[in-house]
Amino acid sequence: MTCIEDLRRRARRRVPTMFFDYAEGGSYEETTLRANRTDLDRIKLRQRVLVDVSRRDLGNTIIGEKAALPLALAPIGLCGMQWGDGEILASRAAQAAGIPFCLSTMSICAIEDVAAAVDRPFWFQLYVMKDRGFSRALVERAAAAKCSALVLTIDLQVLGQRHRDVRNGMTVPPEWRFANIANIAMRPAWALSVLAGKRKTFGNLAGHVRGMEDVNSLAQWISGQFDPSLTWKDLEWIRALWPGKLVIKGVLDVDDAKLAARTGASALVVSNHGGRQLDGAPSSISALPKVADAVGSDIEVMFDGGIRSGQDVLRALALGARTCLIGRAYLYGLGAGGEAGVAKAIELIRNEFDVSMALCGVNSIREIGPQVLAWD
Ligand SMILES: Cc1cc2nc3c(=O)[nH]c(=O)nc-3n(C[C@H](O)[C@H](O)[C@H](O)COP(=O)(O)O)c2cc1C
Repeated sequence: MTCIEDLRRRARRRVPTMFFDYAEGGSYEETTLRANRTDLDRIKLRQRVLVDVSRRDLGNTIIGEKAALPLALAPIGLCGMQWGDGEILASRAAQAAGIPFCLSTMSICAIEDVAAAVDRPFWFQLYVMKDRGFSRALVERAAAAKCSALVLTIDLQVLGQRHRDVRNGMTVPPEWRFANIANIAMRPAWALSVLAGKRKTFGNLAGHVRGMEDVNSLAQWISGQFDPSLTWKDLEWIRALWPGKLVIKGVLDVDDAKLAARTGASALVVSNHGGRQLDGAPSSISALPKVADAVGSDIEVMFDGGIRSGQDVLRALALGARTCLIGRAYLYGLGAGGEAGVAKAIELIRNEFDVSMALCGVNSIREIGPQVLAWD
């Protein structure tokens, strides 16, 4: 396994197509998904030579938490469908690597499952549901589990369609079409790991939504629960519920970034949800410098979308991010090899980042700025 692409190829063989495509795909024509990658690839790094780079330090603080790398694992719905207990395995790998892990509202393992599996506090990502009582209960559970930050995702008030999921019958529970059954039958290692996992459905929801005990009714409940009426005003309600560190995820526009900076949140994440929501939106990396410039030091800037290597992390940091989140890069690791696969994904990115920093002539995160980029 020399790079994230190797993990991706292994995951593709191991994970049923329906779930692999769910992780890999984007919304509609996937133009934003592709732009996330192509725009990163276009950014050239500036090679410097004969600089003493023998004292390299990759450590940093992320919203006040010490981290071994400027990296965190992004919230991923149904992460545990890449490998049984996927969220527990990923949180352990993040803990061992000394970086934050963020659990999704739509995870398979519940908040309490992850809290029991790790000592390091993790972050909890919240989708505000129409059922505000349920949202409040989720925030209270995150507080009881001693989560160190609440990550509020604001770019999913309505759901962008992912054609691959529709074509594959990717629902929860999955549509039991012949093709899906045959596909799973050819992947017994995956099936065993998922069967042996603690849970097979939305762990944060099952048993917590009144009258929704079976998987079918839960899935229906969720699809009607994303709230198109949500506004910045609702952030005051969240603020009152969660006085701790707040991260606002899903900002692409400068005006929205300025509004986010005024909320008193600790950080915002420049993100287009990995190209899974507004198809036609700019790539995350093209939005990053404008947002970073607009908010200055008022709020920490995090970044995600298309990160597949340590070089990409360096590019994003050079353009104003303090921290990068990775989604698919670690999901491929999880699908390829469970906890060891996630650890491998983090290690690959770490090593690439370390060597690239050295070849750009920098020793620490603080030194990274636009000067590490080569402009034509
Ligand atoms: C399979 C999948 C599920 C996701 N689920 C969530 C989620 O539940 N909540 C959320 O805030 N973001 C979710 N995201 C978006 C990620 O947190 C992150 O923004 C995105 O993956 C970054 O792009 P990358 O995958 O290219 O690194 C999901 C992304 C993927 C690929």
